[in-house]
Amino acid sequence: MFFTRIVNSLLSILGLRIVRKSALYDWQIGEMDARQKLCLPEGGAEYLTINNPRLGELRQRYSQFQAQASSPIVWTDDYVQSFDLQSFRGDNCYIWQTKDPNCDEINYCLTTYYVKAIDTLGLLLKNSEDGLFGVYTYIVDSQAISRDLLDSINELSFLEKHLHLSQIPDLKILDIGAGYGRLAYRTACSLPNLATYLCTDAVPESTFLSEYHLKFRQIEDRASVVPLDQITERLQGQHIDLAVNIHSFSECTLEAIDWWLSLLAANKVTYLFIVPNAAGHGGEKLALNDGVDFSFVIEKYGYRLCCKSPKYEDPLVQKYGVSPTCYYLYQLAD
Ligand SMILES: C[S@@+](CC[C@H](N)C(=O)[O-])C[C@H]1O[C@@H](n2cnc3c(N)ncnc32)[C@H](O)[C@@H]1O
Repeated sequence: MFFTRIVNSLLSILGLRIVRKSALYDWQIGEMDARQKLCLPEGGAEYLTINNPRLGELRQRYSQFQAQASSPIVWTDDYVQSFDLQSFRGDNCYIWQTKDPNCDEINYCLTTYYVKAIDTLGLLLKNSEDGLFGVYTYIVDSQAISRDLLDSINELSFLEKHLHLSQIPDLKILDIGAGYGRLAYRTACSLPNLATYLCTDAVPESTFLSEYHLKFRQIEDRASVVPLDQITERLQGQHIDLAVNIHSFSECTLEAIDWWLSLLAANKVTYLFIVPNAAGHGGEKLALNDGVDFSFVIEKYGYRLCCKSPKYEDPLVQKYGVSPTCYYLYQLAD
């Protein structure tokens, strides 16, 4: 005891202390129970390679496109590693799983029960987690759970609450910075009224992965990928109800955000849903990763904030739930 007290008083300078292992839960000593192994469907390993000609073509096209839309601060040329292509749903730049706050079994358990409580559309029954492409999963209440699944249902439930998404006839959504098409797939499984879900991006690897993923999920009748150099043309004459940007603008330059907002305003996209990275402020600010506020760019184009909400409305879940941040919903002023 005496020895422990001496050591602890020394360690306290570093913010550390010794405790008995038996006083800790498994998840506190890093004995993670997440199940993660690289399961790929047939043909996946052969297609998802850095040398795929389609990826080469997209890289070439994007490098020639207007730099304003794509000049990177986070997504530099080697940000997506070659092994990320096969494990694109793994713990990587698309969705942090073991590196984000509150990523242990107990946090997933809490978040699952929270999502069950707010899931007015019954989306946990309509969606499942198959564990493919390197995603981390836990079993909660006999169901495989991932951050992909929980985040998507939480986001759709927020949009249902504020926009009655499931009631909009021929719903059209544009996803800017769509990653591998996570929310496109979940929306296609969730909303029968979905007419079109367009995924676009300024990073060629993301376009390449979302093209593959949407095709693999067989949702191309309702969801499609639009390469960066075709998005302006594709939006012409088409009314988009909602644009979403999830953990993406925080990783862009102000110039790129400006480019996207001018596109949205020119096409009179009615609503814009933004999820910023928490980056040290819990998502309380609409900010780039370095803390620079970007809300003025959104407002400059006539978008007005109609709702800001913690990702989890219960303060304790916001403290202990998986990857807490805030949700922002904007509406284009008339
Ligand atoms: C953290 S990932 C999030 C992916 C997806 N929104 C999700 O939540 O699953 C960030 C996304 O932003 C995209 N991105 C990076 N720079 C961009 C830019 N200048 N314009 C549009 N998207 C960009 C990346 O390619 C990537 O798809």
